[in-house]
Amino acid sequence: MLRRLYHEQPDSFAFTPANRAWAEGQISKYPEGRQASAIIPLLWRAQEQEGWLSRPAIEHVAAMLDMAYIRALEVATFYFMFQLQPVGSVAHVQVCGTTSCMICGAEDLIGVCKDKIAAKAHELSGDGRFSWEEVECLGACANAPMVQIGKDYYEDLTAESFAALLDDFAAGKVPVPGPQNGRYAAEPLSGLTSLTEYDSGKTQYNASAQAAVDLQDTIKRIDGTEVPLLTPWKGDTKHPETRGDTSADPRPAAGKPADETGVSEQEATAKGTGGPAPEAQAEAPADDQPVAAEGPGVKPEGLSAARGGQADDLKQIKGVGPKLEDLLHSMGFYHFDQIAAWGPEEIAWVDQNLQGFKGRVTRDTWVAQAKKLAAGEETEFSSRVKKGDVYD
Ligand code: FES
Repeated sequence: MLRRLYHEQPDSFAFTPANRAWAEGQISKYPEGRQASAIIPLLWRAQEQEGWLSRPAIEHVAAMLDMAYIRALEVATFYFMFQLQPVGSVAHVQVCGTTSCMICGAEDLIGVCKDKIAAKAHELSGDGRFSWEEVECLGACANAPMVQIGKDYYEDLTAESFAALLDDFAAGKVPVPGPQNGRYAAEPLSGLTSLTEYDSGKTQYNASAQAAVDLQDTIKRIDGTEVPLLTPWKGDTKHPETRGDTSADPRPAAGKPADETGVSEQEATAKGTGGPAPEAQAEAPADDQPVAAEGPGVKPEGLSAARGGQADDLKQIKGVGPKLEDLLHSMGFYHFDQIAAWGPEEIAWVDQNLQGFKGRVTRDTWVAQAKKLAAGEETEFSSRVKKGDVYD
């Protein structure tokens, strides 16, 4: 396959401040003069941030590593894992088309992609939210046919179950990765014939699927605030955002269209059109820094303590885990009706002051969820929390 740079390119690229700090940490792992060794992680992080690798991104990484542009371009064009054209703002689907999957129905899955996404691989769907491609064996042959969506595998698919998966993603959900036919892992469909004493009940899902559920970054764009790269050999033990380091580059290519939808990935995320939000309960590590009272918007009125000494379980709001719940308590927010009452100004203030979780109120639509919960209704997520299907 001919791999060339896309015919339309953004004017510029820059890592987010946190991603830039992460990239600099990666570079610092290598001895002086060997920084080029960091080329793949840096290109990968650029892709995780934007969804695909633009020419400015490749040049930016080459400049950071003091490499000739052509050397970085060689790497980006050699490895198929690098996307050289815009991908769907919600998800890019990679369908395995190698032997096991082909025998077990990969062509049917490709047919679904053609029907539901675009007639040709690497084309964006009409709404710009999905794209697809056929890839070589992804190493999950015992669970054929399968696809990779974002970072995770969806296995044991049929055309029907795959179409339903895509519908779920389009509706803003992130289905649980792993086998889609009831298998736990890759055991015989009829059940185990050996090692039957193995306790498969240790986690709800097999290890890979469980990790995916815990991390909640299946289709998430990575801005660097998720998991800090600590570089103790440089004397750093704090994530840049919590060190108060705001000197790094601004958000990349702000306002520049990232794909044919005309919406940049940054805008897409901010407007809630950049893909379904993770249902994270366990998220980026919180910090023990005091809550800042800065930024745009208006600080919502808080309480000094929960009314009647009984706070609502804010973890029933999708996107609020134990650390964010603690943070909200420290700001004086204990009840669904408090969050439900936030207007745009209050949302802006809270979004800005969530430390390592900035922007989560908007991204995860907390206010809409809180309104339902305050009214005594359930959301799909709150029912899963009550059933114990969501892990801290
Ligand atoms: S043949 Fe599809 S995962 Fe190996």
